[in-house]
Amino acid sequence: MQEIEQLLDKLKNDLTNAKSLFDVEQIKIKYLGRNGLVNGLFQKIGRLSDKERKEYGQKANLAKKEISFLIRKREEEIIKNKEKQTFIDITLPGKKYSRGSLHIVSYAVEEISRIFEKLGFIRLTYPEVEWEYFAFESLNMPKGHPARDDFETFFIDAPDSPRYGRMMLSPHTSSGQVREMLRVGQPPIRMISIGKCYRPNWDTTHTPMFHQFEALCVDKNINIVNLKATIDFFAKEFFGKDRQIRLRPHHFQFTEPSFEVDISCGVCGGKGEINGNKCRICKSGWLELAGAGMVHPNVLKEGKIDPEKYTGWAFAFGLERIMMMKEGLSLDDIRVMYSGDIRFLEQF
Ligand code: PHE
Repeated sequence: MQEIEQLLDKLKNDLTNAKSLFDVEQIKIKYLGRNGLVNGLFQKIGRLSDKERKEYGQKANLAKKEISFLIRKREEEIIKNKEKQTFIDITLPGKKYSRGSLHIVSYAVEEISRIFEKLGFIRLTYPEVEWEYFAFESLNMPKGHPARDDFETFFIDAPDSPRYGRMMLSPHTSSGQVREMLRVGQPPIRMISIGKCYRPNWDTTHTPMFHQFEALCVDKNINIVNLKATIDFFAKEFFGKDRQIRLRPHHFQFTEPSFEVDISCGVCGGKGEINGNKCRICKSGWLELAGAGMVHPNVLKEGKIDPEKYTGWAFAFGLERIMMMKEGLSLDDIRVMYSGDIRFLEQF
């Protein structure tokens, strides 16, 4: 009798350890197979007394039933668990793969290029790693001239050129002006040059790497009216009809006369304040948009163009800056563009 109880305990233990249908099958053979433990119980009947036989037989039969039942139960459990693990809910929405997109600056480059295309300007890029000569000397800023201080510069640890001087990360796209004159040979020149520029600044309106967009126009009878009209055309196309521009007298070595071009601030609407607080972006209602002016005769000469026959204008503006000023964007910190924050980038 005891043996029957022990067998049941042993089975229960075996079944808890069974992890797969294969394990259960092995248990089934071990207990219920022809040479299994249950049949072993029945074989003992012959050796018992008549009196014992009846009770033992009944108990053994009950045990056999219970053993079959427990094995079946465990089998079902395992099947159910398996189903749970591999269950596929076909009503769930599919996995979304995030799609990349162009950077906001790339979109701006495209948009600006298209606006100037309408005016017949061709788009170029000039070197980011540039000689001192093209960045300064050719632009009427001889060695040691204090105007160079306006263009704080990253110099490159590279051998100097006897003719072109030191190498640097170009601090402005104006370095392409004389390069373009030499490339074209003779006017007319209508170019836009978009490129990366480098200056060591880091605050809400500056990053050490930024983009400039330079326009250069050289031909016969080119004057300030052409310059102003072109900037106005661009401002209206890019920012919308209600944004204002203004020219302020300024000084650049490579243009004469020179101007700074301002545009009314899009964050505060040109008021200079928001709810009684000074606008963090413009502080005055106006934002500096571009540097501009009539190309200095010395610069034309460097480009082998006769300043008696031809005149020209040039202007350049910061690409990130104009994106900040664009309606509907209203960024209050330029650095977010290069923060790599996917939540910002995803919006474009
Ligand atoms: N190169 C000047 C700057 O980076 C801008 C400028 C471009 C001014 C062309 C006049 C003409 O600030």
